Amino acid sequence: MSNPTTAIEVAGLTKSYADNAVLRGIDLTVPAGTVYALLGPNGAGKTTMVRILSTLVRADAGTATVGGFDVRREPDGVRRTIGVTGQFSAIDELLTGRENLKLMADLAHLRRDEGRARVDELLSSFDLVAAADRRAATYSGGMKRRLDLAMTLVSRPRLIFLDEPTAGLDPRSRRDLWQIVRQLLEDSVTVFLTTQYLEEADHLAHRVGLLDGGRLVAEGTPAELKAQAGGETLDDVFLALTGHAATSLDDDSDDDSDDESDDSDDSDELEEIR
Ligand SMILES: Nc1ncnc2c1ncn2[C@@H]1O[C@H](COP(=O)(O)OP(=O)(O)O)[C@@H](O)[C@H]1O
Ligand SMILES: [Mg+2]
Repeated sequence: MSNPTTAIEVAGLTKSYADNAVLRGIDLTVPAGTVYALLGPNGAGKTTMVRILSTLVRADAGTATVGGFDVRREPDGVRRTIGVTGQFSAIDELLTGRENLKLMADLAHLRRDEGRARVDELLSSFDLVAAADRRAATYSGGMKRRLDLAMTLVSRPRLIFLDEPTAGLDPRSRRDLWQIVRQLLEDSVTVFLTTQYLEEADHLAHRVGLLDGGRLVAEGTPAELKAQAGGETLDDVFLALTGHAATSLDDDSDDDSDDESDDSDDSDELEEIR
């Protein structure tokens, strides 16, 4: 069942919250060492998908394997394989960037010298050397996002989930993050990212899935999708296939409104976390 060249395999996955059918039968395959972008507007179910694949939420039906492990039966195996960077940052703002990374190195049980070397390496490749000994509270949005991602990578996961990694970032910081994702690829890390930005999917992803109304309304390489819908950009494709745009207009406020709705749903969610 688990093909080593397949990083993620999803079949018939469904998930509802009360009578809100969020995912209505998702099938997708992500080859190891590639970038998959799950694209969809706010509320499409992207975060739900990431939470299911990272074992934080249970699907109602269907199967999913991540790194060869079944998310339902072998959650510990999945957790050993993956890194997750989500809308909720793991950063402790009272600590410096270096201290945050050090904490992750300790959690990953790296030997002291090994941990120190890994932290230095990440500070350098994420352009955080100058800010390393400042409290994270003083970091810009782009720096926090880089630190968060660096923290995820301390343990060298083979597969990472990036849930809207560039939401709310300025264009420069967004491109910095794209560059980081490309570097991950050179290390053969598999990346599953969600985004509302079609341009981002177009630039980064080998394959793209368009999530709308709980289904993947289209799936393929950016070029295939454009050819299929006869569009120049993925924006055209999304519009042609769904009748509406993928990128919401109130983009800047998305992060906050997401957080609020998620907070209010905490009790519901906690029941599902095993
Ligand atoms: N824990 C939860 N309890 C109830 N409804 C939820 C919960 N999490 C998400 N939802 C609902 O599921 C839908 C998809 O949410 P989400 O996966 O966060 O979408 P996206 O990440 O694409 O913006 C939304 O309608 C949202 O309100
Ligand atoms: Mg989300």
